[in-house]
Amino acid sequence: MNALTFRALRMLAHGDFRSGEAMARALGVSRASIWNALQALDEIGIEVFRVRGRGYRLSEPLTLLDPQAIELALGCVASYFNLEVLDRVDSTNTLLMQRAAAGTASGTVVAAEWQTQGRGRRGREWHALPGATLTFSLLWRFAQGAGFLAGLSLAVGLAIARAIARCGVQDGGLKWPNDVIWRGRKLGGVLIEMHGDMLGPSAAVIGIGLNCRMPRSLLGRIDQPVVDLATAAKANVDRNAVLASVLRELHPVLTAFAKEGFAPLRTEWQRCHLYHGKVVEVIMPDGGVVNGTVQGVADDGALLLTTGAGTLRLHSGDVSLRATTPAPVSA
Ligand code: BTN
Repeated sequence: MNALTFRALRMLAHGDFRSGEAMARALGVSRASIWNALQALDEIGIEVFRVRGRGYRLSEPLTLLDPQAIELALGCVASYFNLEVLDRVDSTNTLLMQRAAAGTASGTVVAAEWQTQGRGRRGREWHALPGATLTFSLLWRFAQGAGFLAGLSLAVGLAIARAIARCGVQDGGLKWPNDVIWRGRKLGGVLIEMHGDMLGPSAAVIGIGLNCRMPRSLLGRIDQPVVDLATAAKANVDRNAVLASVLRELHPVLTAFAKEGFAPLRTEWQRCHLYHGKVVEVIMPDGGVVNGTVQGVADDGALLLTTGAGTLRLHSGDVSLRATTPAPVSA
């Protein structure tokens, strides 16, 4: 998607018809250029209807990211964040890692409509589409070293769980270490990358992907059960409000974490853990499988798994988790 395609998308986001001629005039290009620009939307899975005599319209209206709307929704916590919204980037995490190394301030947020190389945990790709998913990263600096940040990804998951509850999701929850789940399907995930050394200071780039309103074309590209906030909240969700809500929850969580680590958040996290007390199988990075019962999480965020050979402590990033019984749903 190039800059013209984004400008054309913004003109159609409301979901009403615009004639090719009016769009071409407003954007100072030919009608053929508009046609080509919109063709690029079709190619990535954003459906555009073309009706002779009426022009173009999107199959569904989109809420595009709007920095002013986000700032407004942030209210009194706006001053803690420095927000930048991009149309297109390879990955917001990659960009913020580069900026972290260059000394960018704590609280910098980069949100993007379109990531060409969005990354998930354990080397997976993160699929998203403009207007459908929230993809953003937050840089947060800590006086402590990278070792202190072990439970950070769980703390971030908790902030998201609080935020989606505020957005109307009744029975969302977490899957260790930080998948956001609704009725057994994935709503979002977190990718944390560190900059700094073990003794400190350090910086964390907290990358968050949240499915807001997923078209069928995107669902078909994802190899696991996923769901969006519009379905889970049974309402239309405003991506700008959701982004602000997550940042509003992240601020107190990160402030608490910077003082005392994950320990004070542990009890609430366990209440949100959909697999607490369940029999699970854990797939180790080498492909081996460990079966056990989830006893809880430790103060450093390690998963405590009771097995026939005793209690194991499993660290974030090393394993994935699957229920041996159908995925649980919270009450
Ligand atoms: C996962 O569940 O595997 C983690 C997904 C994290 C995706 C987000 S989208 C914004 C940020 N930029 C990236 O490239 N990845 C993270």
